[in-house]
Amino acid sequence: MIPHSKPTLNKEDALAVADIITSGYISQGSAVEKFESEMAEYIGVKGGAAVSSGTAALHLSLKALGVKEGDDVAIPSYICPALLNAVHYIGANPLLIDIDNSSYDIDPSDLRRRLTKRTKAIIVPHIFGLPADIEEILNIGIPVIEDCAQSVGASYKGKKVGSFGICAILSFYATKVMTTGEGGMVLSNSDNILERISDLREYDHKPEYVVRYNYKMTDMQAALGISQLKRLDSFISKRRNIAGLYNKRFSELGIAIPSNPEKEHIYFRYVIRNMAPEHQSTRAPENKGQRLEEDLKFFEDNGVKCMRPIYKPIHKYLKPVLNSDSGLEGFPETDRAWDKLISIPIYPSLSDADATHIIAVVERWQDRTKT
Ligand SMILES: Cc1ncc(COP(=O)(O)O)c(C=O)c1O
Repeated sequence: MIPHSKPTLNKEDALAVADIITSGYISQGSAVEKFESEMAEYIGVKGGAAVSSGTAALHLSLKALGVKEGDDVAIPSYICPALLNAVHYIGANPLLIDIDNSSYDIDPSDLRRRLTKRTKAIIVPHIFGLPADIEEILNIGIPVIEDCAQSVGASYKGKKVGSFGICAILSFYATKVMTTGEGGMVLSNSDNILERISDLREYDHKPEYVVRYNYKMTDMQAALGISQLKRLDSFISKRRNIAGLYNKRFSELGIAIPSNPEKEHIYFRYVIRNMAPEHQSTRAPENKGQRLEEDLKFFEDNGVKCMRPIYKPIHKYLKPVLNSDSGLEGFPETDRAWDKLISIPIYPSLSDADATHIIAVVERWQDRTKT
């Protein structure tokens, strides 16, 4: 079975972590500081504050921006629940936004339509490694937290994502573009935000008490991060090479993913869209998604592990709450994406032979959906 995702680890990574262990200083220390400054330099911002996860990075970013209980925070519905959790940790309300039907990123016009007076921040994920329409969103004038958990190294008009918003977050979970096992970081040009996050991530030796967290990254993780960062550009070019193979064949089949000359995709995920018409028209809403389970099984039976790129949209989790709040509009593009998108394997260690096998299985799947 070709796995859906896989970290790219080598002996240098292991030696870097072993060095920290033999040094005897394993918690947050000088390796974390080094990792923060190297990561900030790579993205092109003033500094970074490393934390224990991408979720912790989102939580502390909202706190550092002064978002409070009762405020609204805009997030796309087509995203993992980490964003919803961070908003709820603050006691704020998630303001769900639909996505663009070709990039799958947050839709700026739907965002403008749904904004409220209480909206204090917008979290903008650059989903699957493809930058969102960040300039248009910044023009709205509400503070933007860029979520680069899936897009470290991607760029918009030649500038790396993560350098546009008031701050940006990264995740270094095992199967992300680069990893520290678990981990995250907030990047910013604002000293004030970085100082606030550095203060909130650790609770001890503080002259005054406020609620703080234990969200620290360890030097063991940071050493792995530094080692991975050295190879990040090569990881991305391998992803692009595989995407090149997929794009070539899938554009002939009419299922290639969109490209945009202003946006440099890093292909964290390669998603294909089921083009069978009954997917969008003949199924009752409650049965939508069922066909996709059959598709995933087809791929698995043919030795390729595929997944829904987003397990379940947020409005589907919140459905009972949304139903009681009458008058709320739906999320048609999010529903469509959930019903039709399949994420196929793409990662630096995927061999050409595996990529060729995956292409052949996709071709068979396409033929099958036509019948
Ligand atoms: C877009 C996005 N934001 C945030 C997160 C949360 O990151 P973590 O798992 O490190 O908490 C993820 C993780 O999958 C993600 O995909």
